[in-house]
Amino acid sequence: MERPQRRLVEGPHHLYLRVSRARGRHFLRIAILGTGEVGSHLASFLVGVGHEVKIGSRTAENASATEWARSKGPRASHGTFADAAAFGEVVFNCTAGAISLEAVRMAGAENLKGKILIDVSNPLDFSKGMPPTLTICNTDSVGEQLQRAFPEAKVVKALNTMRHEIMTNPSLVPGSHDVFICGNDVAAKAEVTRILKDWFGWREVVDLGDITGSRGLEMILPLWLRLFRVYNRAPFNFKVAR
Ligand SMILES: NC(=O)c1ccc[n+]([C@@H]2O[C@H](COP(=O)([O-])OP(=O)(O)OC[C@H]3O[C@@H](n4cnc5c(N)ncnc54)[C@H](OP(=O)(O)O)[C@@H]3O)[C@@H](O)[C@H]2O)c1
Repeated sequence: MERPQRRLVEGPHHLYLRVSRARGRHFLRIAILGTGEVGSHLASFLVGVGHEVKIGSRTAENASATEWARSKGPRASHGTFADAAAFGEVVFNCTAGAISLEAVRMAGAENLKGKILIDVSNPLDFSKGMPPTLTICNTDSVGEQLQRAFPEAKVVKALNTMRHEIMTNPSLVPGSHDVFICGNDVAAKAEVTRILKDWFGWREVVDLGDITGSRGLEMILPLWLRLFRVYNRAPFNFKVAR
């Protein structure tokens, strides 16, 4: 993998991008809030394609984050949620949706100011067993909670409607299928669309409008969970036919 060069330029939407002159690829400092299967999968993928990634946890000594950073080389690091958010130019929320507000508060509003916060979470409540219910729905969502709590962050809901392997490799599901986004900041959504297409290989990015679109994206989870059982865990995704 080609090493990123250290030339800083002002990129679109005021992001400072590290530019590889040879291939014209953009490398960023990425914060991943969350050490579960989604966080570690996204973090590994992003390090693998040349970004610098800090994975954040409740404690700086989190064992799986420590091991992840040790195994992934010099572009990988770990720390608290706040350490990661301070480091990242773009931040992914990959914490359990039921506690995302709490986790992102630990990351700190100052560390999120002006940054894109890509919210991958789902508000699943496993406290009464399987299948989980939603901790919040109908008139609110985690995406909206985060945008209200962090008005200076640019929250974009994305990628929460598929298994983590498909997020970075849509070709695991044959044919054309969709990734949905929503958020209040038009420029942030354009940047996330670029990330989804250029980094992850998505072709169909469906913009559902403002952040209240998170309600539908999160409420699709009961259907998703049922399909997961119907298709016996084989990869699948949603496609809107029209
Ligand atoms: N699994 C998938 O394929 C998939 C697909 C789409 C969307 N999602 C959504 O993506 C998110 C991440 O899923 P996941 O399975 O990777 O991880 P997860 O188990 O849902 O969440 C793990 C993270 O939540 C943090 N956390 C747990 N309790 C906390 C609390 N009380 N306060 C603060 N932080 C707390 C953990 O912190 P520590 O690091 O300190 O332990 C950890 O970083 C979820 O919202 C999930 O619904 C998952």
